[in-house]
Amino acid sequence: MRILTGLQPSGKLHLGNYFSAIRKMLEYQSNNELFLFIANLHSLTTLKDPNLQKSNTYNAVLDLLALGIDPNKTVFWVQSDVPEVTEVTWYLSMAITTSQLSLAHSFKDKTAKGFTPSAGLFNYPILMAADILSYQADKVPVGKDQKQHLEFARDIASRFNSEFGDIFKIPEPDIDENTATVPGVDGAKMSKSYGNTINFFDSEKELKKSVMSIVSDSAGIDEAKDPDSSVIFSIYSLFLNKEEKENLKNRFRTPGLRYGDVKKELLEKVLEHFSIYRAKREELISQPELISDILASGKTKAKSAIMPTLERLRTKLGLLI
Ligand code: ADP
Ligand code: TRP
Repeated sequence: MRILTGLQPSGKLHLGNYFSAIRKMLEYQSNNELFLFIANLHSLTTLKDPNLQKSNTYNAVLDLLALGIDPNKTVFWVQSDVPEVTEVTWYLSMAITTSQLSLAHSFKDKTAKGFTPSAGLFNYPILMAADILSYQADKVPVGKDQKQHLEFARDIASRFNSEFGDIFKIPEPDIDENTATVPGVDGAKMSKSYGNTINFFDSEKELKKSVMSIVSDSAGIDEAKDPDSSVIFSIYSLFLNKEEKENLKNRFRTPGLRYGDVKKELLEKVLEHFSIYRAKREELISQPELISDILASGKTKAKSAIMPTLERLRTKLGLLI
């Protein structure tokens, strides 16, 4: 089964991304055929600084490789390295109406946040459909916010297929409704846009600052504490097995626990869990030629995967005379 997903290079990775999306990708990589790319054409719709665009993309590549994305198993590339996908975008744009696109929640959300309502932002779902359909993905793991985009992609594929014969696979969304939402340091959903993240590739000093800033209630040392309403407990639990979690629960319920001490332990856990990945990342930073080779090979593989579909489209649409 071919699993495909894209990640926008929009900033540093945090615990919420890791414990939901990234761990899942690593699992797929070992059991399936994974296609994974950095969606830098999508981020152009909101990220206007070219230097930031470049460094974010490079950092996203380093992050994913450091976390275990293996370019020998996974087709891993930067979206803009295979510009053929934008040609497919144009063809697909004939199979969706502007009124359908105007229903996109993400367009409304982004313009409400102050992003320019450019035609690029409006057409964003078509580019995403092209990513999915031109690589013939069976399954697409995404966050809940991308559900509607998947529906657009499926609609476009069906319309094309009924008009021109079976060109595209109809992709299945893979949305984990029950993946717990990881809370941020303020207790709201951990998200870059809320500035409440714990970024595991930050420096130790920055990580310490984030962990120490996790909110807690005002229960005194001598009082029992409620693990179920504690943000520290929720985040700490991500690193624990069932038994360890029970133990921590009991510690919360027993008077004498200091939140400051638990935060220090949590910081140790984060550092311990990510230390091999942090070391791997450092190693990769010093090997720019290796990164270029990996991306060049990903580009070649992605290109050869897209070409058969693109050729069929050109033929079917009457472009080859
Ligand atoms: P952000 O909200 O920080 O911008 P993204 O939208 O880039 O994060 O999310 C990338 C992936 O990580 C998505 O699959 C999303 O569902 C997942 N994710 C992001 N934040 C959390 C969270 N707090 N808890 C669980 N999963 C999350
Ligand atoms: N729009 C997706 C997001 O913001 C990223 C993305 C682009 C994507 N192309 C894709 C995800 C194709 C899955 C498949 O999260």
